[in-house]
Amino acid sequence: MPTIAIVSQKGGSGKTTLTVNLAAVAEAAGQIALIIDTDPQATASQWGSWRNDRAPEVIDSAPPRIQHKVDQAKTQGATFIIIDTPPHADSAASRAVEIADLVLIPCRPSAFDLAAIRTTISLIRLFDKPAFVVFTAGPPNAPKIYQDAIDLVREFGIEACPHLLPDRAVYRHASAAGASVLEFEPAGKATAEIDALHMWITAHVDMSSFAHEEV
Ligand SMILES: Nc1ncnc2c1ncn2[C@@H]1O[C@H](COP(=O)(O)OP(=O)(O)OP(=O)(O)O)[C@@H](O)[C@H]1O
Ligand SMILES: [Mg+2]
Repeated sequence: MPTIAIVSQKGGSGKTTLTVNLAAVAEAAGQIALIIDTDPQATASQWGSWRNDRAPEVIDSAPPRIQHKVDQAKTQGATFIIIDTPPHADSAASRAVEIADLVLIPCRPSAFDLAAIRTTISLIRLFDKPAFVVFTAGPPNAPKIYQDAIDLVREFGIEACPHLLPDRAVYRHASAAGASVLEFEPAGKATAEIDALHMWITAHVDMSSFAHEEV
């Protein structure tokens, strides 16, 4: 029953896009997904309202209420809770990291974006949470760019997720229609990529909770 925080102090790094599409894929895989939108910009909530009550459910939360809303959602049967956070190092991001089982940091594979994730990494270190960078919106076929980016984040002391979410126009088209890429283009590359990421997360959270039990 993982709670995942999507955190990056960099604006426009792909937090909300990752949040809504991951939740949609989780729901399609039989989980009961819930998005908690802690961003005053309310982008995920806007997406949710365009969907007219179609799952996944989106609720908003002020930072002090996040834990309560997570607990409440679990008692109501939510099995995949994902917290979208605002850019900038504020209390919503800190609370989300504190509460989460796993933190994902979306980041474009560009020098400016990579330099900016160090602030986010410092925040995650404070709470000692499992965390991975997810490369978003980079060129689809550029292995050298990704290898350099992976090496750089490793120097920062964090691992990159092996699944990439490269730039696919369908994310923009789907969001504008209040849809996920899964609904918009079920057999498309973006759907296969987000699906692979979801499976990797599910396996990873299972493994890390097992590792904690072993200690
Ligand atoms: N993999 C991708 N391929 C194509 N476009 C993408 C991808 N990921 C994000 N985008 C686009 O990049 C823009 C910013 O994405 P998004 O709103 O998800 O970022 P954010 O980190 O939530 O921004 P903010 O910090 O303002 O909350 C959007 O127009 C979105 O459609
Ligand atoms: Mg956002």
